[in-house]
Amino acid sequence: GHPQIGASFSDGALDAKPSGAGGPAPEQGEHTVSITVVGASGDLAKKKIFPALFALFYEDWLPEHFTIFGYARSKMSDEELRNMISMTLTCRIDQRANCSEKMDQFLKRCFYQSGQYNSEEGFCELDRKLTEKEAGKLPNRLFYLSIPPNIFVDVVRSASRTASLPSGGGWTRFIVEKPFGRDSESSGELTRSLKMYLEEEQIFRIDHYLGKELVENLSVLRFSNLVFQPLWSRDYIRNVQLIFSEDFGTEGRGGYFDNYGIIRDIMQNHLLQILALFAMETPVSLAAEDIRNEKVKVLRSMRKLKVEDVVVGQYKGHTRGEKSFPAYVDDPTVPNDSVTPTFAAAALFIDNARWDGVPFLMKAGKALHTRRAEIRVQFRRVPGNLYRGSVGADLDMATNELVLRVQPDEAIYLKINNKVPGLGMRLDSGNLNLFYSERYQREIPDAYERLLLDAMEGERRLFIRSDELDAAWAIFTPVLRELEDKRVAPELYPYGSRGPVGAHYLAANYNVRWG
Ligand code: NDP
Ligand code: BG6
Repeated sequence: GHPQIGASFSDGALDAKPSGAGGPAPEQGEHTVSITVVGASGDLAKKKIFPALFALFYEDWLPEHFTIFGYARSKMSDEELRNMISMTLTCRIDQRANCSEKMDQFLKRCFYQSGQYNSEEGFCELDRKLTEKEAGKLPNRLFYLSIPPNIFVDVVRSASRTASLPSGGGWTRFIVEKPFGRDSESSGELTRSLKMYLEEEQIFRIDHYLGKELVENLSVLRFSNLVFQPLWSRDYIRNVQLIFSEDFGTEGRGGYFDNYGIIRDIMQNHLLQILALFAMETPVSLAAEDIRNEKVKVLRSMRKLKVEDVVVGQYKGHTRGEKSFPAYVDDPTVPNDSVTPTFAAAALFIDNARWDGVPFLMKAGKALHTRRAEIRVQFRRVPGNLYRGSVGADLDMATNELVLRVQPDEAIYLKINNKVPGLGMRLDSGNLNLFYSERYQREIPDAYERLLLDAMEGERRLFIRSDELDAAWAIFTPVLRELEDKRVAPELYPYGSRGPVGAHYLAANYNVRWG
C-alpha cells in the first residue's frame, strides 16, 4: 500500500502501485471492491468523493475489479448519477489528456440505489445489486457515510444488518465523516452506538487534514532529518502556531455550522491532529497502532483549555467599494442573535517533559483576508548573540522560524539571519525555501484520494481511533460548555479582515507575535 520509507527517496519517480484490492493475494479467485457513497446526492460527495474516486481510477490506483454505488433518498437513475458525477468533476484530473475517455470507463462502473436511511429495505435492495456485481469474485465492501451526523447511526444499523459481508468473507468497512459528536458525552454516545453494529477495526473516522501532503510529511521532516530532531523540544522551541484561515464565510453551510462553531469545526479535529503529529514522541514503527498510541499519549498530556486562554469572534458584514459581504447572521439558516464563533484563537499546553511551558497557539477563522493553513515554529533567541547590536538585527530578527505551509502553495521554509552582502555589517532575515511547485513537477493529490485509498487497503494510520477522539474532546469540552452556558459574546470582525484584535492580546500574554 503506502510507499514505505525506503521505497523511494527520489523526486517521486517510484510510488508502488497496489497489486489488488489490498490484503493477501486471492487464493480461490479475484478480489473485487464495492464502494457505496451514502449521501451521494450531497455536497461533499459531489465536490470531493466522486472526483477523488475518479482521480484514483485515472491514475490506476483502484483495483482492477471495482463497482461504485451512490445511495441516497433522492430519486435518480444510474444515468442521472453518471451525469451528476461528470458535471461536478472539479478534480485535478479534469484538464488532463484522455480525461473524457477514462471518464466514460469510470462512469460505466457507477450505479445508483435510492432508499431511506433508517429502513432496511433500500439497503437490502443495494445488497442484492452488490451481490450481483460481485458474482464470481471475492467481495469487499466500503461504505462512505457522506451524510449529516444525525443519521450516522441509522445508516450503520441498517447497512450493517443487510449489506455487510458475512464474517469469514471479505471485509466490510465504514468511513465516517466528522462531526464525531459535539462534546465528550455525545461523542462517547456515538462511539458506543457505532460499536453496537461494528468492530472498531471496521470504523474509519476521517479527518481529511491527515491526508494533506504537508501534514503527512510532518513525520518525515521530524524523524528522518537529524538537523530538526535535537531542536524539537522546549529547549529550543519558543512557541508553535497552528493557523487556519479561509477568505469566505459559511456560505451554504450555516445551518450545520451554527450547531458546531469554529472550535469544533476546525480546532478540535484538524488543528489538534496536526498538533499531535507535531508533538508526539517517536513511534515504535510506522505501523498505524504505534503512531496512534503516540498521538493519544500527547493528547492525554494536554491541559484542558481554559476560557481565559480563548478568544472568540464572529464576522460582520462589510462593504468594500461596490461589493458588500454578508455578516454570519445574515445567513437565513442562522438565528439573528447567534453567538456561534466563526473565529477562535487559543493557547494550549502539553504538560510533559518535552513541551513543558511551550505555548501551542491555534487560530482558526472564516471570512478572513486570506486562505491559508500553516504550522509556524518559532525558535528561542540565540543566547549571548554576538550580533545583537548590529544594524537590522532587532530581537525578533535574531530568532529562527520554521514554516510548513499546508496550503495553498505547499512549502517548507526556514527563516535564518544572514549578512547583507557588502562592506558594512548589516543583518537581514532570509529564507531557505522548499517550494513544492518548484521542486516537484507533479500535482499534489487531494487528501480524499489518499484517505480513500488507505481505507481500501486497510491502512488506519491516518484515521482517528476512538481513544484519540475521547482525548481530543476532553481538551475542548469544558471550555465549549462554559462559552455556551454563559453565551459569551464573540468579538465582531469585518468580513475579509484579519480577525479580532483579541487574538493579539492572547498571544501577547505568552510573549508571542503571530506569524
Ligand atoms: P449534505 O447536507 O449535502 O447531505 C448529504 C445528503 O444527505 C443530502 O444530499 C441528502 O440526500 C441527505 N440529507 C441531508 N439532510 C438530511 C436530513 N436532515 N435527513 C436525512 N438525510 C439528509 O451534507 P454534505 O455533503 O455537506 O456533508 C456530508 C458529511 O460530510 C457531513 O457529516 C458533513 O459534516 C461532512 N463534511 C462535509 C464537508 C463539506 O465541505 N460539505 C467538509 C467536511 C465534512 P437525500 O435527500 O438525497 O437523501
Ligand atoms: C471542513 C470544515 O472540515 O474543512 C469546513 O467543515 C472547512 O468548514 C473545510 O471549510 C476546509 O477544508 P480544506 O481542505 O478546504 O482546507
